[in-house]
Amino acid sequence: MDEQFWEEMYRGRDQVFSGAPNGVLVAEVTDLPPGRALDVGCGEGGDALWLARRGWQVTAVDVSRTALRRGAAAGADVAGRVAWTHADLTSTPPLPGEYDLVSAQYLPLPRQADHAALRGLLAAVAPGGTLLVASHDLADLPPDHVGGFDPGDFYQPADIARLLDDRWAVLVDETRPRTAPAPPGTSHTRDTVLRARRQP
Ligand SMILES: C[S@@+](CC[C@H](N)C(=O)[O-])C[C@H]1O[C@@H](n2cnc3c(N)ncnc32)[C@H](O)[C@@H]1O
Repeated sequence: MDEQFWEEMYRGRDQVFSGAPNGVLVAEVTDLPPGRALDVGCGEGGDALWLARRGWQVTAVDVSRTALRRGAAAGADVAGRVAWTHADLTSTPPLPGEYDLVSAQYLPLPRQADHAALRGLLAAVAPGGTLLVASHDLADLPPDHVGGFDPGDFYQPADIARLLDDRWAVLVDETRPRTAPAPPGTSHTRDTVLRARRQP
């Protein structure tokens, strides 16, 4: 699941995602006051644009230039509020302490023994800021799942919750039904969600 994988995935279709914001983001962020947000693995930008239209200043990061171009094209109305940024989170950590919200929605972040990329992501949350991570519930994958990858190789929200120290308050660490139907061709009916607040 490197840059080439994602670039080919996006180039293979004119549009991959619906353009609507993810249900987890809407549920957890609607009541937060706008500030600076980092959307990692932003894809075609549905979440970044929703945040920007609600007044957030957004840095939207992805390894796929095609996805970023599509996001920028869809967001001419909020062009000044989204910085579309090409970067690989596993090699380029975000700016530390910079963001009131760090959101990773269905980002496949590979596990590392030293958790370097994950720690970089956590460090990007400003004091008092929010970390929001959503993944598909692995229990929804069919037993004969053969996607060419092992889902266990990637952090799940509960893994990340276990790695948070006492500088964090875990507000949500749960599995729950998706608010939107399963994406076409998938069996995803539930999300696993971590929401945590970095102590001020
Ligand atoms: C399953 S898609 C989710 C896209 C979007 N968050 C959404 O929910 O519609 C995962 C996204 O993460 C991006 N991605 C994967 N690995 C990445 C990495 N190491 N650094 C930055 N982006 C990455 C992919 O290009 C892809 O756009």
